[in-house]
Amino acid sequence: MTARPVVLETIADVRTAIAAQRAAGRSIALTPTLGALHDGHLAHVARAAELADVRVVSIFVNPTQFGQGEDLEKYPRDLDADLDLLGSHDVAYVFAPSVTEMYPSGPTATVVTAGRIGTLYEGAARPGHFDGVLTVVAKLLDIVTPDIVTFGQKDAQQLFLVRRMIDDLNIPVRVEIIDTVRESDGLALSSRNRYLDAKERRAARTLSIALEAAASSADRGLDATLAAAQAAFMGEPLVKLDYFKVVQPKTFIPVDDDYRGKAIAIVAATLGGTRLIDNEQLYLN
Ligand code: PAF
Repeated sequence: MTARPVVLETIADVRTAIAAQRAAGRSIALTPTLGALHDGHLAHVARAAELADVRVVSIFVNPTQFGQGEDLEKYPRDLDADLDLLGSHDVAYVFAPSVTEMYPSGPTATVVTAGRIGTLYEGAARPGHFDGVLTVVAKLLDIVTPDIVTFGQKDAQQLFLVRRMIDDLNIPVRVEIIDTVRESDGLALSSRNRYLDAKERRAARTLSIALEAAASSADRGLDATLAAAQAAFMGEPLVKLDYFKVVQPKTFIPVDDDYRGKAIAIVAATLGGTRLIDNEQLYLN
């Protein structure tokens, strides 16, 4: 059993704490989160513990990545529960800034834009979302200056865009990708799963069923892959499919019929008012 992390609320305090750790020769890993932590986040922290001396978790419900009518107000916030959970996982610091600490004059005039890929899939459903994500991630990387930052495979489009930003802007940090953690029926862990009622929760496993069906049909080509996924959604009226696409890992552009090789199937659907996303790597033949 280790102690609860030290909570730092200001950027100045983070810089002071990190400078002291650096002076002692220690390496730093950052796991950025929106809070409402679950076992998926703990997988990040566990991997970070293998890679760096000091673990920092940021907990910040970043308003600039939520659009009008989205769940910014109701997004679950329970810092105490989050600290309890991290208490047994040897995290040195939680950076939990206020909105005014991060955005003292309102949303920043300078924004990192996610470009065309940022307007597709999640970006089409949530305009401006990825600009908000990239801008806050750039700020967090600048504040914490980690050697390693963890991002989950679960948010595949976010991961793609963050890695490209880090590359494009020459940010000196290594991205460690953390596999998706799933419930026993395949549902990917997400802080938003707690919005689902019992019927929606049962229906939610359709996303991972569709992804598995797609992956096991991939050796028969793109049409068979998409048809297998489509079939999984038939007869599940609670799941409103937004998109199911197969994209190239290096560009995140949809593959065409002739494409052969590694690909990622990405899916988004809403159940009641809850939007869920998931993805699976596959190999098209
Ligand atoms: O994936 C998330 O939890 C958020 O988008 C992130 C990366 C913490 C930025 O607010």
